[in-house]
Amino acid sequence: MEITQKREITILAIESSCDETAAAVVRNGREVLSNIISSQIELHKLFGGVVPEIASRKHIEKINQVIEEALKTAEMTLDDIDAIAVTYGPGLVGALLVGVAAAKAIAYATKKPLVGVHHIEGHISANYIEHKDLEPPFLCLVASGGHSHLVMVNDYGSYQIIGRTRDDAAGEAFDKVARAIGLGYPGGPKIDKLAKEGNPHAIEFPRAKIAGAPDDFSFSGLKSAVLNYLNHCEMKGIEVNKADVAASFQEAVIDVLTSHSMEVAKRYGVKKFAIAGGVASNSSLRGRMEQACKEHNITFYHPSPILCTDNAAMIGAAGYYDYMRGIRHGWDLNAVPNLKIGESK
Ligand code: KG4
Ligand code: ZN
Repeated sequence: MEITQKREITILAIESSCDETAAAVVRNGREVLSNIISSQIELHKLFGGVVPEIASRKHIEKINQVIEEALKTAEMTLDDIDAIAVTYGPGLVGALLVGVAAAKAIAYATKKPLVGVHHIEGHISANYIEHKDLEPPFLCLVASGGHSHLVMVNDYGSYQIIGRTRDDAAGEAFDKVARAIGLGYPGGPKIDKLAKEGNPHAIEFPRAKIAGAPDDFSFSGLKSAVLNYLNHCEMKGIEVNKADVAASFQEAVIDVLTSHSMEVAKRYGVKKFAIAGGVASNSSLRGRMEQACKEHNITFYHPSPILCTDNAAMIGAAGYYDYMRGIRHGWDLNAVPNLKIGESK
């Protein structure tokens, strides 16, 4: 799609699909003027995972403050904003509703256009922010707490899912394994850190391949293998080296994500490959993907870690391209917890 830009478009973006209340001001889809994130992690840590009811309530408490701060940091008022973009799915319904209601209220009161954005399309679009040269087509691995998808971005707003997880998402596996070895929530960053002290080849955990669906992922077998290993050690009185478990588990996840991605990239002859989502902030995964892309002569793109985990700047990036394609939502916009990728219009 040819984006013909008549003037600068400034978007106020809102994200509240899980446990981050976030607002950002983004110009022309790629320039972040502010990116405010209020994380609820400390609150959910007490329960070992996100508690939906608590998440919704905390979003209500924080949303106005976060939006005000985003405008203030960008040195703007609502008069300077051209459109309001908001995540309306997928995610936790109660959490999504808070952002959607806030965005609708602002859009209604200011008579500005409302653009509903798909959360995963937001994650993918995080890559546009720091890579001003990145244009579709490209292949993107989205690995987050709820998704593990290999997506072909054929054009702005045109997505084709090549592979997906059959069970657990990669981030979910990180969180479950972290809990099993007593690291707490959220597991990803903790395993990432502990794995640096361990031997990634100490324990041979399985790398799942799905018969007849080589592009799909499966992480539940790996998760069970780790749990079985821990049980076995406990029963036999063997002391567990947690760093080795973390490193070996992480190695198995990275192996699968990297090899699948490169196989698909080769088959489709892609020249550009990007990663996105919370797991994309994993330091070892980033290193391995970079190396693999180099070997395959593919240009590698990745957002900074702060733009990999949930934020509103990525929603502003995706929202801009949706806005430019004429996407507008009405006052009947609702939260759609299981919104499918490419179905946000
Ligand atoms: O994208 P995200 O912030 O939220 C969702 O849309 O799900 O992803 C959160 C997930 C969590 O499962 C978290 O454990 C994982 O991303 N994560 C990581 C790292 N940082 C966050 N996984 C591995 N290594 C990390 N450094
Ligand atoms: Zn996310």
